[in-house]
Amino acid sequence: MAAFTVAVFVWCVSCCEVCNAREVTNRRSRAATAAADDSTTESSLWLWRGRWRIPHFPLPTFPSTAHGLTCPPPRWPYLSRPRPVGPRHDPHRQGPRHGAPKQIPPPTPTVDPTLRPPPPVSVPPVAEPTPPIGAKGDGNTDDTKAFQDAWTASCNVEASTMVVPANHVFLVGPISFVGEHCQENIILQLDGTVVAPTDPQAWGGEHWLHFDKLSRFTLQGSGTVDGRGSVWWRRSQSEDLNVDLLDVDNDADDGMDSEDADTQAKEEMSSMPRNKPTAMGFDHCLNVTFSGIKIQNSPNFHLTFDHCVGVLVRNMSISSPGDSPDADEIHLGNSQDVTIHDATLACGDDCISIVSGCSNINIHDVHCGPGHGISIGSLGKDHSRACVHNITVRDVDLQGTTNGVRIKSWQSSAVAVRDVAYEHVSGTYTKRPVDLACSDSMPCEEITLSAIDLRPSSQKPPSHDDGPFCWQTFGRLTTPIAPPIDCVQIGRRSSNRIKSGQDSC
Ligand SMILES: *[C@@H]1O[C@H](CO)[C@@H](O)[C@H](O)[C@H]1NC(C)=O
Ligand SMILES: *[C@@H]1O[C@H](CO)[C@@H](O)[C@H](O)[C@H]1NC(C)=O
Ligand SMILES: *[C@@H]1O[C@H](CO)[C@@H](O)[C@H](O)[C@H]1NC(C)=O
Repeated sequence: MAAFTVAVFVWCVSCCEVCNAREVTNRRSRAATAAADDSTTESSLWLWRGRWRIPHFPLPTFPSTAHGLTCPPPRWPYLSRPRPVGPRHDPHRQGPRHGAPKQIPPPTPTVDPTLRPPPPVSVPPVAEPTPPIGAKGDGNTDDTKAFQDAWTASCNVEASTMVVPANHVFLVGPISFVGEHCQENIILQLDGTVVAPTDPQAWGGEHWLHFDKLSRFTLQGSGTVDGRGSVWWRRSQSEDLNVDLLDVDNDADDGMDSEDADTQAKEEMSSMPRNKPTAMGFDHCLNVTFSGIKIQNSPNFHLTFDHCVGVLVRNMSISSPGDSPDADEIHLGNSQDVTIHDATLACGDDCISIVSGCSNINIHDVHCGPGHGISIGSLGKDHSRACVHNITVRDVDLQGTTNGVRIKSWQSSAVAVRDVAYEHVSGTYTKRPVDLACSDSMPCEEITLSAIDLRPSSQKPPSHDDGPFCWQTFGRLTTPIAPPIDCVQIGRRSSNRIKSGQDSC
């Protein structure tokens, strides 16, 4: 471990890199030579502090014209860099291992990279990875700058991969991965753990990890994103409910006596900023994939998509304690063509919430609970005029959620909700199995429920009037449905009052 300090590195594999390879390798050469002279030298560029060796690689032949490259094939001094002491055998990584000569095959001459950018998962490994970008990965040192630098380097290269290796903990403050001027098909391979600062000074803004204006971007891996939200929850709970701080302290340090813990909790609570950040927020994105990652303990929403088109979220999980306040798990706003499947969601608020301007949303094979269930809304609180349509929720298992299926509209809502299907929704609830509250001015249309099997949870307080509830809900039911639902008005609503609302869809 002595030599190890570097953990985040960018692995660029595009053909553009080939063009730049001469310059890059020259830079590497200088850095390598400098580092070889003194293994503790920090290169300002890469902060690489391992030992450098300079062996020789076989020279692949570059058919320079077949690639349509405007620059001659680079000379390859082939500096091998030391392997990071971090994880090496990552099943998610494609192509050559860092510094392993025989695993760099020659480029495929039949593909013209200028015409057909390779898909992210099968990029021909035409160039060596760029050097690692220094990050400590010790959980205490602020690695925000290393992440930002790694992102900047990835951003410039089509189909590059930024790797956050496993078995390390990276402390990262609020950061934006902005894609506005980036190449496409970038992958962020997150296998390590990323934790949020608990220092109040580190915070500001709405998001912790913000992904903005990305196109054809993939975030994948087996890593964990931990918002360490308990310092924020303590604040809001004590404000809202005036509860004893220590009762809600979910990860109080062991061995700290309770007075100290109390004092510390109070200090943290009073000093955290008012606005709690979202753990991971995507804004204005186009065709992004999110897979494998676990998100936990977000101060606020865990994963949000706003103004996105083409989103795939799969094989992921979110977990926060059931009493974490205001922490929706996945939140969708003004987004279209979103698929969420194979997700395990547990926290203190909505498992998935869908608000104004969302359509073509497909949710299936999701486990939810504890939490509030899968909700459409709240709609119309902000007087927005929009619609929510073509939503499918299928094969969902709810465990002890307050509601089963829910639509929450404000009575004055001008948000038109139509074409929402719930199929094969089963499990337990603590309050109501079905709660479809639509507005008089804008009833919900084409709501279909089929194969619903929701039972009261053993923790449900006995009460008479907590059965299914609907208000201005039109649609149809397909049995079996348990408990029986008789509040949905079968068929369509014959009225032209809703025309104006539909215009905005
Ligand atoms: C799901 O993600 C985990 C990592 O969190 C990975 O090991 C596994 O292979 C993934 N499964 C599928 C089907 O993609
Ligand atoms: C986004 O994905 C859709 C569906 O796969 C595809 O038709 C569209 O061309 C993609 N857009 C971009 C810019 O990649
Ligand atoms: C509804 O959404 C699904 C994706 O969830 C899409 O495949 C389908 O084409 C949409 N239907 C309409 C009528 O837009």
